[in-house]
Amino acid sequence: MATAAPLFASGSVPNTLRVPCLADRLCWARSEAQLIEALRAGGECALLLGQGSNVVLPERLDQPVVIAAWRGLRLRVRGDEALLTCAAGESWHGVVRYSLGQGWAGLENLALIPGSAGAAPIQNIGAYGVELSERVVEVRVFDRGEKRVRTLDAEACGFGYRDSLFKTDSARYAVLSLTLRLARRLAMRLDYPDVGLELQRQGVTKPTPRQVAEAVIRIRRRKLPDPRHWGNAGSFFKNPIVAPGQAERLAQSEPGLVAHPVSGGVKLAAAQLIDRCGWKGQRRGGVGVWHRQPLVLVNLGAASGPDLLALGERIRRSVRQRFGVDLELEPSVLSD
Ligand code: EPU
Repeated sequence: MATAAPLFASGSVPNTLRVPCLADRLCWARSEAQLIEALRAGGECALLLGQGSNVVLPERLDQPVVIAAWRGLRLRVRGDEALLTCAAGESWHGVVRYSLGQGWAGLENLALIPGSAGAAPIQNIGAYGVELSERVVEVRVFDRGEKRVRTLDAEACGFGYRDSLFKTDSARYAVLSLTLRLARRLAMRLDYPDVGLELQRQGVTKPTPRQVAEAVIRIRRRKLPDPRHWGNAGSFFKNPIVAPGQAERLAQSEPGLVAHPVSGGVKLAAAQLIDRCGWKGQRRGGVGVWHRQPLVLVNLGAASGPDLLALGERIRRSVRQRFGVDLELEPSVLSD
């Protein structure tokens, strides 16, 4: 009698840092139903991943690992607006390209961010003056505590800078899909200096959403390592928010520091702090600090997760010593 294929088998855990990580029990979930079944079978400690674009993995994972690997896009047009529902396993950049291709605006500033659509709300991806949270209508999740599927509106998702309920309570929520609000015409967000300059360079004065996306793609290609060639997880550190008093003292002792007032304090540019500590372009063992954006650490070929964390720690220490600022890691760190 034929038996159903086992849900779990041993395998390498995918991740954009391209560090080796072996899991004894790995499941590629090809549908929502399979994901829920695998999470139930794997128990409380089962770990859910998409493309592994925002995690630092250990060399071995004992707990069961479930990969959200199913796809699907659904566009519902409502006059001048559209609602786009994306399955967790879609590639994020694929979602951006699809929406622009259908003539809808809203995601152009978020082009070329690596990772899956399901991971996007977890760290509330953001770039060039736009955060995903501004476009989210709702996120469908499997609530592992209540053992049921729930739909959370944007308010309930607890979005913050590179943060959400799904990040703070990551063991509880598994993202199944998200629904975004797009518009035919939308006031474009061009206030980020890099974007304005790039459009100027191309001689574009009244950009279309597609032209904004193209400008963002060109900027990102120039500044950031291509994960197909250089394993990386985007920014390895968050931009720190310090108290106004500390920002003022730093402005005196460190002229020219970038400082943006935000709610709760003043946001500094981690890239600049790391740069001033002399880390740009440095290599330690198998890990490099990207020469055009020192916020990004790259795997030069044979690095492990712990190697990346070790260099991250050295960078944090030198920033703390020089500026008295604690950098927080941006990716989630998993241990075995
Ligand atoms: N800077 C330096 N030296 C450098 C690079 C930058 O001093 O080598 C300074 C620049 O003066 C600049 C400042 O750092 O004013 C900020 O740099 P940039 O504009 O490149 O952006 P970022 O703050 O470093 C953030 C996001 C990126 C996002 C860009 C563009 C975080 C942690 N990072 O970087 O997101 O693409 O803005 O909006 O918020 C990611 O999260 O993975 C990511 C790549």
